[in-house]
Amino acid sequence: MIALPELSRAPLSGTGNPKPVAFFAVEYDPATREVVMLEQRALPREVVYHRYTKPDQVAEAIRAMVVRGAPAIGIAAAYALVLLAEQERGDAKTFLLANGVAGRFLNATRPTAVNLAWAIARMSRKAADVAALDPDARYEAMRAEAEAIHVEDVAACRRMGELGAADVPEGATVLTHCNAGALATGGYGTALGVIRAAHEHGKKIRVLADETRPYLQGARLTAWELFVDEIPVEVITDNMAAHFMKKGEVQFCVVGSDRIAANGDVANKIGTYGVAVLAKEHGLPFTVAAPWSTVDLAMPDGSRIPIEERSRDEVARLGETTIVADGIPCRHPGFDVTPARYVHAVYTERGVFHPKDGEGPAVLMNRGKVQR
Ligand code: MRU
Repeated sequence: MIALPELSRAPLSGTGNPKPVAFFAVEYDPATREVVMLEQRALPREVVYHRYTKPDQVAEAIRAMVVRGAPAIGIAAAYALVLLAEQERGDAKTFLLANGVAGRFLNATRPTAVNLAWAIARMSRKAADVAALDPDARYEAMRAEAEAIHVEDVAACRRMGELGAADVPEGATVLTHCNAGALATGGYGTALGVIRAAHEHGKKIRVLADETRPYLQGARLTAWELFVDEIPVEVITDNMAAHFMKKGEVQFCVVGSDRIAANGDVANKIGTYGVAVLAKEHGLPFTVAAPWSTVDLAMPDGSRIPIEERSRDEVARLGETTIVADGIPCRHPGFDVTPARYVHAVYTERGVFHPKDGEGPAVLMNRGKVQR
């Protein structure tokens, strides 16, 4: 049994979940006015939660990847702006100035996931609406907005999970890359939402989790969270995917995304493009699950999506062990872009589109409400 930290209410991450959640990535505790986050760098070794009281502490936690995954960092940033609203009790102008400074600071922590900018922009619009209220009412309005972002993300994951699960063949082995699970979102997960929904519908599926070099989100996080939820999973090193596809041991691929361009190009964790190319070679559906907050209609195609460069150490060391001699340079782009022509389907809470058939997210524009 994994211990959950004390919270003054049931985690919002479990919204709509018939069972209490066993863990969560990020929550706000209204009684103590703290942001509570699972220390993902310690997984699977230990389950430990940190509490944050200052926006810049949350920004540092995002940068250092205590919390990671595109929707989860957006939610963490929204809660950071709730902390700001709680502490900044000056007049409207002072509050808006402080909110703007904190928003820019938070936004600079990780450049590829557009969910971060999306959540900060939404919180900043709310800040402008409520700036003239008294500080307590202002704080409550900012808190309600951040909680709405959180709850809507869980609902989006459940909806895209249902849509994707319908395409997962009975008895399939599903390959996924990185971690696009409850740990990476408000709860339930995007790619792992598809897998969870297929499992909940009684489909006898199993998962091959790419270990996801260099930061090992697949081995450390995806395998752990599926194991906790009793969904059959095996970890493979990234260079085994081709072998298992050739042997007919994979029937379906699903991944998350950090940004989807208007033409359907998809940015996701480094190595995703390779999975997509392999899937095409072996005639397998390569699919993506992501909330609408991951869609960047202002980005015409993937060529200008900013790709985060991370540290040499994450490549040159495995934990405490040096695997590349000191002094030898390493390359470390954190993400890559899969061209639309490789993407069979993108599942969102607003519906499904098929980039390989020339569809971009805009085909869903008239379905439901667009939040930007
Ligand atoms: O560097 P990370 O761990 O934040 O990268 C995460 C991913 O690439 C995920 O696949 C993506 O953010 C989607 S999460 C639902």
